[in-house]
Order: sequence, then C-alpha cells, then structure tokens
Amino acid sequence: MHGRFTIEGFGRHVPERVLTNADLEAIVDTSDDWITTRTGIKERHIAAPGETSSDLAVVAARNALAQAGRTAQDLTHIFYATFTPDAVCPPASSILQEKLGIQGRSAVDMNAACSGFLYALEAGMGALALRPGSTALITASEITTCRTNWADRGTCVLFGDGAGAVILSDKEPKPGQAVIKDIITKSDGSLWPLLTVKAGGSGWPLKLGEQVKEDYFIEMNGPEVYKNAVRSMGQVCEEIVTRNGLAMDDVDLFIPHQANLRIIEAVGKRLKFTGDRVMVTVDRYGNTSAASVAIALSDAVSEGRVKSGSTVLLTTFGGGFTWGAAILKFI
Ligand SMILES: CC(C)(COP(=O)(O)OP(=O)(O)OC[C@H]1O[C@@H](n2cnc3c(N)ncnc32)[C@H](O)[C@@H]1OP(=O)(O)O)[C@@H](O)C(=O)NCCC(=O)NCCS
Repeated sequence: MHGRFTIEGFGRHVPERVLTNADLEAIVDTSDDWITTRTGIKERHIAAPGETSSDLAVVAARNALAQAGRTAQDLTHIFYATFTPDAVCPPASSILQEKLGIQGRSAVDMNAACSGFLYALEAGMGALALRPGSTALITASEITTCRTNWADRGTCVLFGDGAGAVILSDKEPKPGQAVIKDIITKSDGSLWPLLTVKAGGSGWPLKLGEQVKEDYFIEMNGPEVYKNAVRSMGQVCEEIVTRNGLAMDDVDLFIPHQANLRIIEAVGKRLKFTGDRVMVTVDRYGNTSAASVAIALSDAVSEGRVKSGSTVLLTTFGGGFTWGAAILKFI
C-alpha cells in the first residue's frame, strides 16, 4: 500500500508526580469507586509547576533516539502533535529542537486533539516519501492539566500528562523495529462542539485583565463523545484491516486510544479483542490525549508485549472529531 517506512525506536516519558483517585476525592466531589467503575482510571501523572510539554517531549525523544541507536543530529524533521504546546508562539517543535541541541531542521506542531500522534506519523511518512533518506522524530506530548478545570468533576478525573515518541526512517528495518503497513486518518467537523478547549483561540480571545472562564478548559458532552469514539474507532479498524487483506484474528496486539476502559472494552468487543490482545495503560496514566497511543506503544515494546512477526493495530479518537488507525508489523 505504502512504501516501506520503519519505526526504529520507541520512547515515552511521564512526569514524576502521581495524582491518585484518593487525591482527587480531596479536590472534587468524587470517589475512587465512581472513577474506577466509569473509567478504569486509578491514577495519572501530572506535571510539576513550570513543567512544559516540550520538557516531556525531549525526554521521550531522547529515549526513542537511544533505542534506535541514533542521535538528535540524525534528525531531519520533527512532527510534534499537541493541543497543549508550551506557548501559542513559538511552536513547541522549535523549542524541542533547541532542547535537543540541533538547528536548521524542519519542525512543526500539529493539532488533531487526541488523534494527533497518528496524524503526525502520517505527515512524517509524507515527508519521507518526498525526501528519501530523511529521519523524522514523531512525538506527541501533552500537559492536559494546564487545560483541566479542577472544579469540573465530569472532566478533571479523566486526564493526565505525558509524552511518547518514535523515530521514523525509510531504512531497512532491523529486529525489534517495526514497519508501518498502512495508516488512515479522518475527521468530522460537524461534531466539534461536543469536545472543546475554546478560550485563548482566535474565536474566543482573552482580554487583558479578564478572568479565565470555564471555556478556557476542556469541556465535553461525555456520553456523546463515548458513543462516537466507540463507533469511529470500530469502523476505522474494520476498514484498515479489511483493505490490507487481514482479519481481526491476524492482529496480535490492539492498542486503542487510552481514554476510558469502558470505551476500550466496547471497541474491543465489537472487534473481538479481549484479554492479552488489548493494551491497557489508562489505569495508570489516564487520558494523555495525543500522547496516549504513543505512550502505550512504547510500553508495549518495553514490556515485551510485541515480538518478531507481531501485527499491531493502533487506533485513536479525539476532538474535532478526529480519528484514525494504523497497522504496524514488527520485524
Ligand atoms: C465522562 C464519563 C466517564 C461519564 O460517564 P457516564 O456513565 O456517561 O456518566 P454521566 O455523564 O451519565 O453522569 C452520571 C452521573 O455521575 C456524575 N458524575 C460525573 N462525574 C463524576 C465524578 N467524577 N464523580 C462522581 N460523580 C460524577 C454526574 O454528575 C451524573 O450525576 P447525575 O446523574 O446526578 O446528574 C463517560 O461519559 C465517558 O467516558 N465519556 C467519554 C469521555 C472521554 O473519554 N473523552 C475524551 C475522549 S478523547
């Protein structure tokens, strides 16, 4: 379907501080029991004051480079998915480039909400197709807690901070590396009001001295997001598996967006993935938005959940709505 694109290394990083459900009980009117039964989340990592998206991304990137046996000097491109960049300007990808100690490379931020990692991966494949011999850092890094309304119990219990990264090239893959067999990304803007972070954007500008209001933070219609997430991830997985001449039985590990264990289980049920064939990290990280699938992929590799010959199906869903899927084959 596509040329050969190799993921040479995988990395991730989460902040040190852990916020448990018990900690949240002291902040909002909630309970460990409610959060666990509705979401499967037990704890999430949250940034220290002053810790930025690029602070997490640089560690995830260095981990991915080390696993690939590469240095930052090898990079020609940076594709950086986030809806929580360090600043509106400059791009977080430029700051990341500086933190990696390199200059003069292509670097761009991409916002496809929680689906950003797959969008960035696809953009990286496009750059490699245009410029053979390139080496791209694909990273997704979020400080979701900078846009978390700690007074809204319907959203504040769901999210966490973290970063994931991969190194993408068109080199011949080595054992332990993976090739990208196919990728699909999609969007439906008619549903954008269901999941938003509005204020601070040009449609909802802040004025000097004005207090931030609820619309500065993540707002959503939880049950509608839930239904659409299950339907969209289910459909796009069926599409990508079918168009690659595979069956769901051929997939060794399913790595869905880590938003909520009930969503993961519902999509898994539709596609007939259960038990060890499903990667679950939402219990320990919460929803890290664009970083979620990248972190879960890195953990799957480091925990030995994939081996030579494994076929891995990734899928994601987020605000926009945006969604997508990818198939990787491990060498
Ligand atoms: C948010 C979500 C967990 C809520 O679960 P739900 O079963 O739909 O729950 P409801 O929204 O029906 O709320 C049920 C009750 O729990 C209450 N509630 C909401 N958050 C709560 C919390 N943290 N603790 C305790 N009670 C809570 C609600 O106020 C409501 O109370 P009411 O019946 O008295 O009005 C669920 O809709 C969901 O996961 N949606 C998808 C969210 C998501 O993943 N978004 C990001 C996608 S990228």
